[in-house]
Amino acid sequence: MRNILVTGGAGFIGSHLVRLLVNKYPGYNIVNLDKLTYAGNLENLRDIENSPNYSFVKGDICDYPFVEKLFGRYRIDGVVHLAAESHVDRSIVDPFAFANTNVMGTLSLLQAAKNHWGKGGKEGFGNKLFYHVSTDEVYGSLENDGTFFTEQTRYDPHSPYSAAKASSDHFVRAYHDTYGLPIVISNCSNNYGSYQFPEKLIPLFINNIKQNKPLPVYGKGENVRDWLFVEDHARAIDLIFHKGRVGETYNIGGFNEWKNIDLIKVLIECTDKQLGRAPGTSERLITYVKDRAGHDLRYAIDSSKLHDELGWSPSLQFEEGIEKTVKWYLENEEWLERVTSGEYQKYYQQMYSDRK
Ligand code: NAD
Ligand code: DAU
Repeated sequence: MRNILVTGGAGFIGSHLVRLLVNKYPGYNIVNLDKLTYAGNLENLRDIENSPNYSFVKGDICDYPFVEKLFGRYRIDGVVHLAAESHVDRSIVDPFAFANTNVMGTLSLLQAAKNHWGKGGKEGFGNKLFYHVSTDEVYGSLENDGTFFTEQTRYDPHSPYSAAKASSDHFVRAYHDTYGLPIVISNCSNNYGSYQFPEKLIPLFINNIKQNKPLPVYGKGENVRDWLFVEDHARAIDLIFHKGRVGETYNIGGFNEWKNIDLIKVLIECTDKQLGRAPGTSERLITYVKDRAGHDLRYAIDSSKLHDELGWSPSLQFEEGIEKTVKWYLENEEWLERVTSGEYQKYYQQMYSDRK
C-alpha cells in the first residue's frame, strides 16, 4: 500500500492524473489536495469520486501547519505536486499570487516532506519520492531555428508565471542537494484535452467559435507552441514516478510544433465540421489583438531522454487528439457553461475588452 498525495488534482492535468492513478492502482490510496480556486473543479472527477482508494481534501498548499498535519494523517509516502497558478496572462496582472502559490506553496510541501520522511537523516528517506510537475516555460524562448529545449538548457524564464515555476524547480533541487530529499522533476510542453479551463487558447477558442464570438489572436499569431495530449502527459508522469531516476529531470513533449495561427485554422476547420457549418465559416472571427507582454516566441521540447530511458512516446496524432478534444467540449455543454458563467465573464472583460 502506498499513500500518494496529488496536489492540484481538481485542475486540468491533475484530474487526468488522479483518474489514471485511481483506476490503475487499486492498492494505492490517492489523496487529492486542492484549494478549488477558479481553476479547480470537482466535476472533473465525478467518475472516480466514490472509489475506495480516493480521498479529496480541500486546502491550501501554502498553509504549512495544515500541510504538515496532512502528511501525518494520511501517512503520505509519495507526492506528485501539480497545484499552481498556471495562466501566463493572469501572472502578468497579479504576480504576487504566482509567487505565493507556486514558490511558497512548493516550499511548504517540501518542508513537510522533509520533516516527515527524513526522521532518520538522509538514509531515512527510504523509498519516498517528491515528484514536482513543471513546465518548459522555465527554459525561456527559442528562435525559429530548429533547436529544442533539452534537460541541460539554461533556465531563462520571462513571465511572472515561468519565473515562479523556475524558482520552485530550484527549491526542489535545493531540497535534494541539501537534505537528500528524493525528488524528480518533469518539464512539459503545452497540454490540450478535456477539462481544461477556457482561459487557455484551445478551449477558449472552441467556446468562442461555438458562440460566434471573436477569436483574439495575440500579435501576428506567429508564436509557436509544442502541443501534447493531456492523457499522454499523465502517462508520462505515472512512468517517471515509478521508473524515473531519483534526482533527475525529464522533459516531456510530443515533437508537435504549431504556429498559433495554423493551429487556430485547424481548430476552426474541426469545430465548424462538428457543428455542421460550411468549411471555413468561422475564419471571419479571427481578430488580431494586442500582443501578450513578454510573449515567448517559440517552445519546442526534446523528450528523447524520456523515450530512450523509459520508453515513453505520445500515443495520439495531433489531428486525432484535436478531434477528440473539440468533440468533448461540444458534448459537455453544461460543464462549459458552468465554468464560463459568473467570474469568468468578469475575467474575459478584464483581459480582452481593451485589447484592440
Ligand atoms: P490548472 O490551473 O488547471 O489547475 C491547477 C490546480 O491547482 C487547480 O485545481 C487549483 O484549484 C489548484 N490550486 C491552485 N492554487 C492552489 C493552492 N494554493 N493550494 C492547493 N491547490 C491549489 O493547471 P494545469 O494546467 O492542470 O497545470 C497543472 C501543473 O502542470 C502546474 O504546475 C503547471 O505549471 C504544470 N504544467 C501545465 C501545463 C499546461 O499546458 N497546462 C504544461 C506543463 C506544465
Ligand atoms: O508550455 C507549457 C505552458 O503552456 C504551461 O506551463 C502553462 O501553464 C500553460 O498555460 C501554457 O502556456 P501558454 O501561455 O503557452 O498557453 P496559452 O494557452 O495561454 O497560450 C498559447 C498561445 O496562444 C500563446 O502563444 C498565447 C496565444 N494566445 C492565447 C490566448 C489565451 C492567443 O493568441 N490568444 C489567446 O486568447
